[in-house]
Amino acid sequence: MANILHIDSSPRGERSVSRTLSYEFITSWKDTHPEDTITYRDLGRNPVPHVDESWIAAAFTPPNARTPELTEAISLSDSLVDELLEADRYVLGVPMYNLSVPSTFKAYIDQIVRVGRTFVIGENGSISGLVPSDKKLLVITSRGGTFPPGTPAAAYDLQEPYIRAIFGFIGITDITFIHADSLNLGDEAREKSLEAAKNAIAQAVTNW
Ligand SMILES: Cc1cc2nc3c(=O)[nH]c(=O)nc-3n(C[C@H](O)[C@H](O)[C@H](O)COP(=O)(O)O)c2cc1C
Repeated sequence: MANILHIDSSPRGERSVSRTLSYEFITSWKDTHPEDTITYRDLGRNPVPHVDESWIAAAFTPPNARTPELTEAISLSDSLVDELLEADRYVLGVPMYNLSVPSTFKAYIDQIVRVGRTFVIGENGSISGLVPSDKKLLVITSRGGTFPPGTPAAAYDLQEPYIRAIFGFIGITDITFIHADSLNLGDEAREKSLEAAKNAIAQAVTNW
């Protein structure tokens, strides 16, 4: 039995491609893995706050030295980290916004990338992720354009490299991407890409 953390980050509802596809994956997964538990977090509709000065002070104060105010300032972050660490697998729906991730998703990243909780810095400055290495991450993206590897457009894809880097930083390196792209490039390109993404989702339900 696995605990899956399912996160959406589009502010759109039914019109959202990333939300629709992540839901499609989770629904099929539940059919074939009824014993698994799903925890759902909707960053698009219920964003987490940006870090502020008291958050930063708390994050860099050892827990036993924190004032009640600092403990309170970091409590949501602590529960988000707990939620992350309790999950075995992650399914993310992430639109591409301005070549990267939506700010709601970035705000979540800032809450869960925590020194002493999800990574540590060694004496020589080396970074080690603290998330156990057996976790798996599936990222379903939606994009208006297309950024095929090996083409000049690939340089504009700062979304996949960023997600790979930041989750790798905290120890999650088994990462699969499914891109629904070309969504704003005409009906034919859009339908072709959606069909390919749906096929990849069906395969991931069997193989992931
Ligand atoms: C603010 C904003 C910025 C966007 N930036 C990009 C971009 O840089 N590259 C791209 O290919 N598409 C971009 N798009 C298009 C979205 O990625 C596309 O509409 C996608 O379907 C949105 O995800 P959703 O359907 O899950 O809401 C942008 C859309 C919005 C609203």
